[in-house]
Amino acid sequence: MSRLLVTGGAGFIGANFVHYWLRHYPHDRMVVLDALTYAGNRASLAPVERKSNFRFIHGDIRDQALVERLLKEEGIDIIVHFAAESHVDRSILGPDTFIETNVLGTHSLLKAAKKTWIDASHVPFHRFHHVSTDEVYGTLAPGAPPFCETTPYAPNSPYAASKAASDHLVRAYYHTYGLQVTTSNCSNNYGPFQFPEKLIPLILINALQGKPLPVYGDGYHVRDWLYVEDHCRGVEQVLRQGRVGETYNIGGRCEKTNLEVVQTLCSLLDEMRPRLDPRSSDLVSYVSLLTFIKDRPGHDRRYAIDPGKAMTELGYRPQESFESGLRKTLAWYLENENWWRSLLDARYEGWIEAHYGAKTTNATPSLLS
Ligand code: NAD
Ligand code: TYD
Repeated sequence: MSRLLVTGGAGFIGANFVHYWLRHYPHDRMVVLDALTYAGNRASLAPVERKSNFRFIHGDIRDQALVERLLKEEGIDIIVHFAAESHVDRSILGPDTFIETNVLGTHSLLKAAKKTWIDASHVPFHRFHHVSTDEVYGTLAPGAPPFCETTPYAPNSPYAASKAASDHLVRAYYHTYGLQVTTSNCSNNYGPFQFPEKLIPLILINALQGKPLPVYGDGYHVRDWLYVEDHCRGVEQVLRQGRVGETYNIGGRCEKTNLEVVQTLCSLLDEMRPRLDPRSSDLVSYVSLLTFIKDRPGHDRRYAIDPGKAMTELGYRPQESFESGLRKTLAWYLENENWWRSLLDARYEGWIEAHYGAKTTNATPSLLS
């Protein structure tokens, strides 16, 4: 039986991981530590809150004393570290919290783990698993091979730079102090429980409300999409079979331009929730809401990840195709309208106004017709 501390477990991937883990290992002890920032949502954990082997702690990863107490009190032997500020656009408007949580917060966790597992009482088998991103590798030219574990780091946004710094600290704690660490760098995730500031849930929720679907720049930026449950399985495999001190790239081998993503979502919505034109009452495709807006500064053109090492060493295989994963995601958002409607409060509207309000639109008529 394992005893896990999951940081950021009320966020998108963390919550999916908690559900995934407790489905597969129903007797493990699971403690979630989450500061409940705008991105944290306790409702995402509702299905497990009453389990006797589950505990939620509202707290900050930078509170080293709290983390040390939890590690001791709960006899934790595995930390799975998801907690982070995770949105590139917010990091452009305000980088400070990214440095505080992603860099200083990760360092604080590492210190707590080292003190408890190595310095104070020897815990011979422990694991600090750090969840990171492909964005640390920078941007790829068209046709360049996907990122692999030996691709040099070249982060371009404050978010990516803060994650790169945290990856280096995790590595240093392994080499210097012998902390038993693993790191996974994954591509863009999508699926249930994702906060509607990232592309896929934002487009879904705007479409369902008849609002514009904002696409940055020319829409030909490429991301490599991964269904969140495939990511959770990848992390499980790294925890179970990964070699200590190693990094594993986890991706879906699913490169799409942003335009392809938005158009596919619109087609699925047309099928699953047909839309009536409010003026004529005729059926009209959601794609008519697509709107090009001013590009993100320093916008990375292409990400693509090579999961070959995880596939060879761990037997990792993503199970969802883009279409099957999107269908599941869309079905979840349609069935869980209460979950996402409760997020559309004044704080959320403030973000939408601050970020999108000032951006000029430059619609491309050929796409809108
Ligand atoms: P998210 O923003 O949805 O959730 C982050 C969670 O961390 C929230 O619950 C928040 O309350 C919590 N948190 C933030 N600061 C905290 C602090 N100081 N102390 C404790 N909790 C804090 O993020 P996500 O999309 O679930 O991403 C999880 C991890 O995966 C992050 O480390 C992110 O960098 C990484 N990642 C995400 C993606 C993606 O596509 N979403 C891709 C690659 C890597
Ligand atoms: P996002 O979901 O923010 O993830 P990341 O920046 O970490 O890749 O964005 C995914 C892609 O979608 C990225 O190229 C930016 C683009 N995008 C839009 O075109 N419009 C939007 O409103 C958002 C949020 C993102």
